Amino acid sequence: MIEAEWWEYESPDEMADAVAGDIGFIIESALDARSAALIALPGGETPKPIYGKLAAAKLKWKQVTVIPTDDRLVAVDSETSNVRAIAQAFLPIGARVVPIATVLDDYRQAGNAADARLQDLPWPPDLVWLGVGTDGHTASIFPGPDLQDALDAPKARRAVGVLPDPMPDNAPVARVTLTRASILAARTMLITVRGDEKRELLELAIKDGQSSRLPIGRVLAEADQPIDIHWCP
Ligand code: 6PG
Repeated sequence: MIEAEWWEYESPDEMADAVAGDIGFIIESALDARSAALIALPGGETPKPIYGKLAAAKLKWKQVTVIPTDDRLVAVDSETSNVRAIAQAFLPIGARVVPIATVLDDYRQAGNAADARLQDLPWPPDLVWLGVGTDGHTASIFPGPDLQDALDAPKARRAVGVLPDPMPDNAPVARVTLTRASILAARTMLITVRGDEKRELLELAIKDGQSSRLPIGRVLAEADQPIDIHWCP
């Protein structure tokens, strides 16, 4: 049973303030408990204003490690690289930013490399923050030949390589992504979505649960932790 709570805002700016505040609190609690925090942030456009507000928070950033939930197999200085946007926001304030993408022809090998890099980090993440695509993907768990691999990878496996099919228009490239198990291992989870189309999609995915044909539905169906969903037009 998915325990989801929706939080609605009138504008992206209002949502950014609230989400940045919540994540700041998650980081502070992790620092109090363990003197270190690990947070996984989504790519795409919705999170960018939130990165800015979060990075302005006065926190002990040197004790915080930031990873992308997923990345496109592009050079780190590419405009479509997720870690590039994360690094721009969080490196200047002293956080440790760990990239997970390697530009390899074989995306499965890139998945192995991402997994190896993540195996070096203290686990689980204190936060996994997810976005949702209009095709129902989350992180880079996409419809396509690798969907089942990403969903059913064993618990010890942290990341896999994925070839979306069909390819998303905005970044038609292979990806690496946290697996469903590593997303669900997170101490806390939150989702940000914008617009009515994605809201309806997410409501349907939650309603269908395990039988959902959408990756986000299949991921959330197995979540034990309550999930905050932040929405704005
Ligand atoms: C990516 C993401 C992806 C993203 C969704 C939603 O690299 O594309 O990590 O899962 O969260 O596509 O993106 P928007 O919220 O910007 O629409």
